[in-house]
Amino acid sequence: MGKTLTTLDQTNKRVLMFGGKGGVGKTTSSAAAALHYALAGRRTLIISSDLTPSLSDIFETEIGATERAVPGVENLHALEIDPAEVMRRWKIKFGPEIYQAASALVDLPYDELVDYVGMAPGIQEEFMLDYILERIRDGRYDMVVWDTAPAGDTLRLLGLPGRFIEHLRVAPRIYLGVQDTLKLSQTPFLEIIASWKELSEQTKRFFSDPASVEFIMVTIPEALGVYQSRRVIGELAEHGLDVRYIIINNVIADPDCDFLRQRAEMQRPYIEMLNDEYGDSMTLLKLPLLSYEVKGVERLREVEEFLFNPLVS
Ligand SMILES: Nc1ncnc2c1ncn2[C@@H]1O[C@H](COP(=O)(O)OP(=O)(O)O)[C@@H](O)[C@H]1O
Ligand SMILES: [Mg+2]
Repeated sequence: MGKTLTTLDQTNKRVLMFGGKGGVGKTTSSAAAALHYALAGRRTLIISSDLTPSLSDIFETEIGATERAVPGVENLHALEIDPAEVMRRWKIKFGPEIYQAASALVDLPYDELVDYVGMAPGIQEEFMLDYILERIRDGRYDMVVWDTAPAGDTLRLLGLPGRFIEHLRVAPRIYLGVQDTLKLSQTPFLEIIASWKELSEQTKRFFSDPASVEFIMVTIPEALGVYQSRRVIGELAEHGLDVRYIIINNVIADPDCDFLRQRAEMQRPYIEMLNDEYGDSMTLLKLPLLSYEVKGVERLREVEEFLFNPLVS
């Protein structure tokens, strides 16, 4: 092995996913990274799928469910995923064909029927991935930075297409109460299922393709942070994604009082653990604990410095 990358600038991927436990600094680091790429002249979109709105706070501007330019930062667009908006688009995209196929089997008004199918487990997440993939593919952006929801959910998402497909095999019979397989096979419903299956497989292929996606693990030097990262890194590897970057956030750099010295002592073994385990094969970026909260472009530029011009330690 052996790492060849030293900064986040050296990634050749178009999609950067930032993942990790809640509160460890995913939004902070992904916003700093997105800002960096935008300032470097790359057309950049930052997407947050964490349902606690956060991009609006960090960029100090209202960011909504449809992508919009971040005022004052050229080349930067942002979007906060809203499940209602995702479902609205899903309905526009698939509603008519679902209705056409299913109305041969059950007699329900359009909205009721389409909404019902849309409640099937996994569909919402599935189409969120599709929605993100659409933005990645539409050619308007050079880089897409994805501030993901806390790790468990992200992993579930990556494993989801498989489970979703499994679900689809029996879905029409259960959801539409169709016992008669023959009647079902005479409707276009099976074709829809087949096309969703294809869509789902494409999405899964894309998001687990190391040629396009960089997964950046964000963690803090504490037991829960480190143990969870280890688990997530292992599970991602099973999906074919090798993590190449770890951001260790909240590192106490220059303790100047007993309290901070004790915290730094507490952190040390966890930093060593990460170094021993991953230092040879991955790039570890340390982000110091700052005395202020990270809000606004000026502050983000300071975080950007640490991520893109790290001091050699
Ligand atoms: N290195 C840091 N120093 C000081 N505060 C930080 C640092 N990193 C993150 N924060 C603050 O911690 C909080 C959580 O960070 P955030 O990026 O929102 O985490 P996540 O997106 O993983 O939940 C925010 O208020 C942020 O400003
Ligand atoms: Mg966040």
